[in-house]
Amino acid sequence: MRKDIPQIGMTYQVLNRDGVFNIREIAKEYYAQQTHLDEMEQWTHDRYLKQSSHARALVRSPSANEFKSCSVWSINHYLGLNRHPYVIEKAKEATELYGTGCGTSAMSGGHSQLHKDLQKRFAKVFSKEECILFPTGFTANSGTIAALCKGSETLIIIDRDSHASIIDGCRASGSRFIPFKHNSIQDLENKVKKFSGKHINLLVIVESAYSMEGDIAPLKKIVELKKKYGFLLYVDEAHTFGFYGENGRGLCNQLGIADDVDFIMTTLSKSTASMGGVVATSKEFASFLRWSTAYLFQAAIPAADVAVADACLDLMSSQPEIIESLWDKTHYLRQKLVDLGFDIGKSESPIVPLFVRDSDILKKMEKELYEEGVFTIAIQYPVVKASEVRFRFIVNNSHAIEDIDHLVDILSKLGKKHGLIKGL
Ligand SMILES: Cc1ncc(COP(=O)(O)O)c(C=O)c1O
Repeated sequence: MRKDIPQIGMTYQVLNRDGVFNIREIAKEYYAQQTHLDEMEQWTHDRYLKQSSHARALVRSPSANEFKSCSVWSINHYLGLNRHPYVIEKAKEATELYGTGCGTSAMSGGHSQLHKDLQKRFAKVFSKEECILFPTGFTANSGTIAALCKGSETLIIIDRDSHASIIDGCRASGSRFIPFKHNSIQDLENKVKKFSGKHINLLVIVESAYSMEGDIAPLKKIVELKKKYGFLLYVDEAHTFGFYGENGRGLCNQLGIADDVDFIMTTLSKSTASMGGVVATSKEFASFLRWSTAYLFQAAIPAADVAVADACLDLMSSQPEIIESLWDKTHYLRQKLVDLGFDIGKSESPIVPLFVRDSDILKKMEKELYEEGVFTIAIQYPVVKASEVRFRFIVNNSHAIEDIDHLVDILSKLGKKHGLIKGL
């Protein structure tokens, strides 16, 4: 096993740098790294929940022989609706009526009346003419970007911290893509100015909130730039849909800029506790996107997943107290961590990061948190810079105040032990 690989996820990159390109050899090295971590009881990548997502769950680490009861902080079911009786009932009803699976893609009969109705509903939710339903949020992004952008006639400008599905779409497009500094309007304007005259199309892609820090994009200012330079704007609302805007319709809705955004995307796997992704846009672009390979050649989501998303939309409008309660819990956790002196960065959303800034401490703490019954993910290099390694606690409405208090108690103890906050 090579000792100079800083993180198992970088195995491919390091071996390529050293001229190793044989994929059998690369796979062997991945296996050696994984086995080593497993022996050290540090192989946390494949931890899983015995009965799936909930605020508390039995969690198993691959190296452990038993499940441990933990509070869970890594799941994006913001509104906590995945076990709501109304949602479950709708999923059951849809399965009975429509069966399981769709067996084919939208273009060859994979869509039912339920799918069509959900597309219409989402078009309304995002104040757009039409909406295209993809099988996942990932392929909504990667498929849409690759369908729209095909070569040197288009330049794509993305935030440096963009999600992998956006980057994959850019790569697959064959168009040139360049990042701008995270959330920097100045850098975005510099890049737009420098390149706008050189391509027929300029597409700017941002997320309304970023998943690693929970910070919000300066969308109003980006729209001002769009009006000045005339680029196309694509906003991924994966981490704002469900709890920003009127009845959770997202940040573009809250800021009153939905009309100025050409493509509003969200996943159905987070606030709406289902599977799938939607892109809402004009009728012309929707027509174009129906030719995306992700729409043409991927089986559509089962009716039960459609019904779940639909049921969650019902609850978002009929029970605003669910959204209010999520915000109350988010503010409660954030305030407690700030009062203890933790660095929680610029988060404004239910994604609450806790900066550790030291990889060794991070790894030790990840294990200690698990031993204390707290399950979350250490965000390490190269996902973030080594100086910015952190934990991420994602609040969802199924967390009880007692779960938050327990988390804060454990963090307070470990934070003092590792010098992240002052002791008494
Ligand atoms: C910003 C963003 N966009 C898209 C996706 C992909 O969504 P899904 O996992 O539902 O396919 C994610 C998922 O983590 C995300 O965080």
